[in-house]
Amino acid sequence: MEENGQEAFKTCYRGRAGQLFHAAYMRMGKVLFALHILRTTEKRLTQKDIFDYGFGAGTFYRYCPKDSRLFGVEQDPVVCQEVATMLGSRGYETVDLQPIEIERWKEHPLLARRYDLFLCSHVLEHLPDPVDFLKTVRPCVKLEGAFLGLVPINERAENPHHVQKVDRAVVENWASDAGYEVVYYEENDPFRYWAQPLFTVDSGWKHKLAQAMSLDLGISATLLGERLWFGWGKVFGKLTFSKPTQAAFLLRPADAGHRLKRMEEDGAQLR
Ligand SMILES: C[S@@+](CC[C@H](N)C(=O)[O-])C[C@H]1O[C@@H](n2cnc3c(N)ncnc32)[C@H](O)[C@@H]1O
Repeated sequence: MEENGQEAFKTCYRGRAGQLFHAAYMRMGKVLFALHILRTTEKRLTQKDIFDYGFGAGTFYRYCPKDSRLFGVEQDPVVCQEVATMLGSRGYETVDLQPIEIERWKEHPLLARRYDLFLCSHVLEHLPDPVDFLKTVRPCVKLEGAFLGLVPINERAENPHHVQKVDRAVVENWASDAGYEVVYYEENDPFRYWAQPLFTVDSGWKHKLAQAMSLDLGISATLLGERLWFGWGKVFGKLTFSKPTQAAFLLRPADAGHRLKRMEEDGAQLR
């Protein structure tokens, strides 16, 4: 896998671990959407092994139960350390966050394990070959586990870091080509549709405006909670002619149902 303009992410999360950074919608919009999908699909994280591939600033982990076991990879070793320290101070006991080199990502030791939840939030659109990625990590998903993907959709302005344009058909093709079944798919989050071009720039007044808007939205969404926020999202979209800006999908390996059934039958025969 080539780096493909991902150098910007090598240090961008460093030292950005304060409450205000975590409160921003640029982070909370994704975290709340992931939590929304997990509640809707009745996936519980208590005492589970959770892997976040490209965890960024680690905001998702802060919403995992304290008895869950947290794993993940990110490019920056400093950020891995900072996020692990932050999670340790918040009471998480099992935290294993490791740096990853994009050129050698397939050899990463954390990809030799299995997880109950394999999260990939706003990473697939950065990859040159998402099907190869999904195929490679399929064995990392436990038999009763799930892969949760989040991606941007309906982008009005091009994001210079994105190398894939995603919609429902693209997700379905990726999933079937990589050997997964789509268990659940949802499009939501129309709130930033018209302002999205502001969020594609990394500096200047547009960036500052996006940051202010992001903080405002992030705090509102967090206070309201994912259920109300994304419930209201559909109505908001219709009233303001805004399209959804995120899609989330829950996948499981296509043969998981069959293998589980066979295990149940074998167990019944032994009893
Ligand atoms: C837009 S950020 C998303 C961060 C976080 N998951 C979130 O939802 O806020 C994309 C992240 O993917 C990581 N990334 C991109 N390509 C990668 C690759 N090939 N292997 C590992 N991480 C990668 C980058 O380091 C970056 O932090």
